Amino acid sequence: KKVVLAYSGGLDTSVILKWLQTTYGCEVVTFTADLGQGEELEPARKKAELLGIKPENIFIEDLREEFVRDFVFPMFRANALYEGQYLLGTSIARPLISKKQIDIARKTGADAVAHGATGKGNDQVRFELAYYAMEPDITIIAPWREWDLTSRTKLLEFAEAHQIPIAKDKRGEAPFSVDANLLHSSSEGKVLEDPNDAAPELVYQRTIAPEDAPDKATEITIDFEKGDPVAIDGARLSPATLLAKLNELGKANGIGRLDLVENRFVGMKSRGIYETPGGTILHKAHRGIESITLDREALHLKESLMPKYAELVYYGFWFAPEREMLQALIDKSQELVTGQVRVKLYKGNVEVTGRTSPYSLYDKELVTFEEGAVAYDHRDAEGFIKLNALRLRTLAARKKKTGL
Ligand code: ARG
Ligand code: SIN
Repeated sequence: KKVVLAYSGGLDTSVILKWLQTTYGCEVVTFTADLGQGEELEPARKKAELLGIKPENIFIEDLREEFVRDFVFPMFRANALYEGQYLLGTSIARPLISKKQIDIARKTGADAVAHGATGKGNDQVRFELAYYAMEPDITIIAPWREWDLTSRTKLLEFAEAHQIPIAKDKRGEAPFSVDANLLHSSSEGKVLEDPNDAAPELVYQRTIAPEDAPDKATEITIDFEKGDPVAIDGARLSPATLLAKLNELGKANGIGRLDLVENRFVGMKSRGIYETPGGTILHKAHRGIESITLDREALHLKESLMPKYAELVYYGFWFAPEREMLQALIDKSQELVTGQVRVKLYKGNVEVTGRTSPYSLYDKELVTFEEGAVAYDHRDAEGFIKLNALRLRTLAARKKKTGL
């Protein structure tokens, strides 16, 4: 048996690594990805080596550009928000990690994959749906659902017994669990478990508090091409550098904090603190450029499908035909979503203050309160209203007659 483990280099996945070797008796291949979580990757290599992984079985990849270009941006074309608020920063990273694990499994002839998600969450579902979508007969090992290391003490004992280095700050309970990448940081559990207790300030790691943000607003422009951002203040940037730049701007202006109680796919409610500084700016700006370039019915249809799209991403159905069908529809809608948006960032707020596009549908002549335009005859409105009112008048007449 050979297994490809999604390995962060942290204590938990190091314990999983050892457990797979000792209890499961498999040869372990580690995969460590840079998704912009802001951690060095080389220590993970050192640690894997120390734990007995052969150099040819250690895979480390910088996935930042692919993550933003092929996962984050397509999702942002949809303006996806789960339950109206969550920008899906964790959800969207899982399919990419799964895809790479399967690639590596094929390359190394491994017959199994393993992840470090718990048995209570969404992430196990997302990883495993993606594995199965790509490799229908793959063996999946989810140690958290199988082992008896059910307490922190047992986990630490196991680590000590197997010479797994434990960072000093990992001896005690972590005060909450964190997942981070270029799009967001999410914190859940422990001190955050009572949804009526405000999150302590130390939970926030990539934004300053809006109260501490500058008193002076920052204005930037974002250029879009076919629904994707391509430049900030006129400077073209790669997808990952652009998002990193928006993250900086968002952080400095206290933008993108969210304290949310959400419904997990597995059935329970959970409370999370999210920080999505750049994504929050991008979401607003994208809506700004769509507002002048999309036809009304195209916009409304897309908007009506968004909650479904967001639910699919949240539930882990990225590699599913229904998500791909919706994506094709969304991408079609973005063909002329090109132009520039100006946004003002100020103490936690993002405000669109201008938008322009060579494909703008906005017609000042049509909408103006001054002097009428030829394409619009006010007298046409009378018939338009009358026909639309026909049903309402019929209903009103019945009500008069019957009282019902
Ligand atoms: N609730 C979020 C989601 O399901 C984040 C999950 C991972 N976060 C964490 N802190 N462990 O997408
Ligand atoms: C986990 O349980 O591994 C993290 C939380 C989640 O997946 O929802």
